[in-house]
Amino acid sequence: MPERELMLRFIRWSAVSLILVLAVVWIGVWTLGSHPQASAPGGVLGSGVQVGGPFKLTDSAGKPVTDADYRGRWMLVYFGYTFCPDVCPTELQAMASGLHLLGPMADKVVPIFVTIDPERDTPQAMGEYVKLFDDRLVGLTGTAQEIADIAREYRVYYAKVESKAASSYLMDHSSFMYLMGPDGRLQMLIKPGSTGQEIANDIRSRLAAS
Ligand code: NI
Repeated sequence: MPERELMLRFIRWSAVSLILVLAVVWIGVWTLGSHPQASAPGGVLGSGVQVGGPFKLTDSAGKPVTDADYRGRWMLVYFGYTFCPDVCPTELQAMASGLHLLGPMADKVVPIFVTIDPERDTPQAMGEYVKLFDDRLVGLTGTAQEIADIAREYRVYYAKVESKAASSYLMDHSSFMYLMGPDGRLQMLIKPGSTGQEIANDIRSRLAAS
């Protein structure tokens, strides 16, 4: 092939590549910048990542609930599962302690535990489990699809970890607590391992600022 034709080919290829790269960047910027933030529930992190949103789940009495049922109150949401050997009980204990420390202010907050293991966590199992921590704690489950939907909205990571005993398994999952405002939008992410006192302080400062 003559050198000239090779060169032309290279230039043409470079131009097409550049256009493709620009298109991808443009789509990325457009997508991040165009969330319907004004009306949709959920909150936006600094990076433009949407957290939270509408959900449809089932409470421990077997009744359907949606995010709209909690509008007007704050939601403190944690994702986990009742078979969790360590992290979930620790976090839920801290959540219960935080609610206790808030005193009457806790009436403005609905504490919610959402399972990421709907296969085993029936409404009844959720109801019995959350009562171990605090009577106010709401346990929510759903179909595999409903749980996948809310996990995607809240950016929750979860995955089944098969164990050697065929009859049981563990779930790997992220462990943030989400403080959502009365409008359903994210107010604060509370980091894993926070004490009850830290959780109470975080909630108190947010409620005072609103
Ligand atoms: Ni857990």
